[in-house]
Amino acid sequence: MEIIIQPTADDASMIAARHVARLVRDKPHAVLGLATGSTPLPMYRELVRMHKEQGLDFSGVTTFNLDEYVGLPPEHPASYHAFMWENFFGQINVQRERVHIPDGLSSHIPAFCRKYEEAIVATGGIDLQVLGIGSDGHIGFNEPSSSLASRTRIKTLTAETRRDNAQAFGDADKVPFHVVTMGVGTIMDARHVIILAFGDKKAEAIAGAVEGPITAMNPASILQMHPVATCIIDEGAATKLARTEYYRWVYDRKPDWQKL
Ligand code: PGA
Repeated sequence: MEIIIQPTADDASMIAARHVARLVRDKPHAVLGLATGSTPLPMYRELVRMHKEQGLDFSGVTTFNLDEYVGLPPEHPASYHAFMWENFFGQINVQRERVHIPDGLSSHIPAFCRKYEEAIVATGGIDLQVLGIGSDGHIGFNEPSSSLASRTRIKTLTAETRRDNAQAFGDADKVPFHVVTMGVGTIMDARHVIILAFGDKKAEAIAGAVEGPITAMNPASILQMHPVATCIIDEGAATKLARTEYYRWVYDRKPDWQKL
């Protein structure tokens, strides 16, 4: 795993945005795996800026979001449909029919999940998956104890995640208990994975993911097995890592041709 520590969340987000932009320029029909939450917001802002000021073209891009709450209609303000259209899709030229977000209202969730997996395969697979990380180490909504081989399915949120996500609902009691999420195995199939984490609230989860043993108790730790995983974090999220000096040393000595 490449570990890139940046002074601020904005600095980290610029690097993530440049990865996405390079892919979209090199491969106009790229398939992006996208995340919600506060973490990817500065990256989306930068991509919107690149679209508006530099003409970064998303018209051929296909997207698959990681997850959605069960029981929320797309127009619910706390749904991830609403989040994505407000913060990203509504401000770029992505084609609506190329956007995929799990359906929280599906009347047959297992069938929906199978179709979601098939749709990813039909596009040729995800080129770049962007991830946040939960304070409990979840990726997507794969909570601790999730099978590290899991596919898209229904999951039950932990009490910690329901508390972490309460703000969008105004009250922790209103956060749904269930979600549909890509599985850990689905995420691992992406050709490149970028995991972002900002703030000391994420420091323990990041330390476990990067330096801990691979364990379903910290689902992000499976990224140690991914051939091309990039962990881009700010100083706060790096505070519990043991080998920060080495990671900085490596990054400072990156060959020019590898730099973005
Ligand atoms: P956050 O959520 O970006 O809102 O911190 C991250 C996650 O739960 O994956």
